[in-house]
Amino acid sequence: MECAIYKHSSLFLCCLVLLSPLVFCQLNYMFYDSTCPNLTGVVRYNVWSAISNESRIAASLLRLHFHDCFVNGCDGSVLLDDTSTFTGEKNALPNKNSLRGFEVIDTIKSALEKACPSTVSCADIVTLAAREAVYLSGGPFWPVPLGRRDGTTANKTEANNLPSPFEPLQNIIDKFITKGLDINDVATLSGAHTFGFAQCFTFKSRLFNFGSKGKSDPALDSSLLQTLQKLCPDQDDSDTKLAPLDPVTTNRFDNMYYRNLVNNSGLLQSDQALLGDNRTASLVLNYSKYPFLFLRDFAVSMEKMGRIGVLTGQEGEVRKNCRVVN
Ligand code: HEM
Repeated sequence: MECAIYKHSSLFLCCLVLLSPLVFCQLNYMFYDSTCPNLTGVVRYNVWSAISNESRIAASLLRLHFHDCFVNGCDGSVLLDDTSTFTGEKNALPNKNSLRGFEVIDTIKSALEKACPSTVSCADIVTLAAREAVYLSGGPFWPVPLGRRDGTTANKTEANNLPSPFEPLQNIIDKFITKGLDINDVATLSGAHTFGFAQCFTFKSRLFNFGSKGKSDPALDSSLLQTLQKLCPDQDDSDTKLAPLDPVTTNRFDNMYYRNLVNNSGLLQSDQALLGDNRTASLVLNYSKYPFLFLRDFAVSMEKMGRIGVLTGQEGEVRKNCRVVN
């Protein structure tokens, strides 16, 4: 009996030694438990405070995480400023005058540098801030595996290739698949458009001259069409005005996005396309009927997105200032 235990425990130790490089190079839920025990509290307080100041910032923080993960993996590269010798991602087309939340990440980083210097990566801060933003807006909570390291490079070309509201759904699906996600993740993560805003130019083509045929998009509800035509008249100077992605519960993270799609009230063409494609339509209908199904699946897809191309172990670095490499 003793021998059996001994045999098993030595086998266990042996496995641990062999596997340790693998184990320690993966994300894990307790990564900062001893090195920065107040991490979650600091992030939550600062995200809460930012939302109290401006509710839209929750949506902006979630989008920041998406744009980080889809370019060079979730490595905080989206946070790097351009310099005379460094080209970051902030001036890529989908990000310029559009991506927000950088100051909130800076505030959190400064607080954490005081509490636990050179410990928490900017990539992990963005991931946690996105989770808190969703949770504090009424959405689901999910545990976030941690230990991402910060990249030392950025990729403006890849940032220019982020999914666009003007491209066919199939292109968007292909882009998600390249990142290790699938078609269901496209339908589920698009539910992020249940809060936040979009500029008129991102959907204006649907309002006046859809497909260059001189009419509006037939897949757009007529009363929403009227509202949007008033908000975004057919002149260039209305391009940067803002419309809520979900006009019904604008700042709340719920399943209203899918209920809107069912009512032909999706704002972006790429949103409404999810109802028009028979591979995604059933999920849209189910989410519109069963809010908890959406909230559960969203949490699962977010964890998946948060693992895209992460740097771990000795890779990359832990930046001291999220805007510049050390
Ligand atoms: C599926 C492909 C996607 C496309 C084509 C797309 C496109 C867009 C566009 C055009 C905007 C408005 C930007 C502006 O007007 O400045 C926007 C906003 C937003 N997107 Fe997406 N998006 C996609 C997926 C996602 C995903 C996966 C997430 C997060 C998980 C996300 C979260 C958001 C949020 C929260 C906003 C509002 C941001 C704010 O108000 O600051 N999007 N998206």
